[in-house]
Amino acid sequence: MTDRKKLVAGNWKMNGLRASLTEVRAMVQGASAIPSVDLVVCPPATIASSVGELLKGSPIGLGGQDCHAAISGAFTGEVSAEMWADLGARYVILGHSERRTMQGETDVSVASKAAAAFRAGLTPIICVGESLPERDSGETLTVVRGQLAGSIPAAAGSMPTIIAYEPVWAIGTGRTPTLAQVAEVHQAMVEALTARFGAAAGNIRLLYGGSVKPENAPELMQTAGVDGALVGGASLKAADFLKIASACA
Ligand code: PGA
Repeated sequence: MTDRKKLVAGNWKMNGLRASLTEVRAMVQGASAIPSVDLVVCPPATIASSVGELLKGSPIGLGGQDCHAAISGAFTGEVSAEMWADLGARYVILGHSERRTMQGETDVSVASKAAAAFRAGLTPIICVGESLPERDSGETLTVVRGQLAGSIPAAAGSMPTIIAYEPVWAIGTGRTPTLAQVAEVHQAMVEALTARFGAAAGNIRLLYGGSVKPENAPELMQTAGVDGALVGGASLKAADFLKIASACA
C-alpha cells in the first residue's frame, strides 16, 4: 500500500493569526520541490479564506478541521462541508480525538459528517486511535477496528477517503509508538477495510499522526502501510512541515 502517493496534512488546530500567512507563503514556495507528495493545510476557519487565496494555483490543498453534517441552517458557530467546498477546500479533518474528547463527538456523528463531506465533494480525513489506558490494556486493535466500523460511512468504498491513525497519547506529547506498533495498527486497518470494501480499500490512504517531527518523519513515513502524516505542532512552521513532506518523497 505504500506505493500510493503519500500525503502530508497540517492540522493547525486553534493556532494561527493573519501573521501566520507568512508561513503559508513559504510552504507554497517550498512545495514545488516535492511534487511526489500531496500537501494539505488545515488552518482555523478565521484565516481559511486568506490561506485559500495563497494556495490557489499551488500544489497545496486547503482543508477544514471539522464540518457540520447539515448543509446550512440554525447551527450557531458551525461550518458546513458545502461552505468549505465553496471556499475552495478539498479536504476536511473529521473525528479528531480532541473533538471526540472535548466536543463529545461519537462514531455516529463522525460518520454523518463524513457523509456530508462526500456530499460536498470533499475528501474526509477521518481520525481514529486509542487512549493510553486502552493501549496499556491491550485493546488498541479492538478500539481502532470499532472506530473504523462506526465512523466510516459505506460510501467510503467509492469516494476518496483518508484515514489517520492517531494514538491519543502521542498527540502533542512528543511520544510516538514504536515502528512495529504503527505497522501493526496499519496492517489491522488494511485488513478491516479490505474485509468491508474489498479491492476498493486499496484507494484509502492511511496516515499516521501524533508527534510527527522532522527528526522522526524519515522512519515513520517509511514504515509499512503508512501513506503519509497528519501533523499538528510541526505543521505551523513551513520549514518543519516541508522537511516532514520531504521525508515522504
Ligand atoms: P501533533 O498533533 O503533531 O502536535 O502531535 C497531531 C494531531 O493532532 O493531528
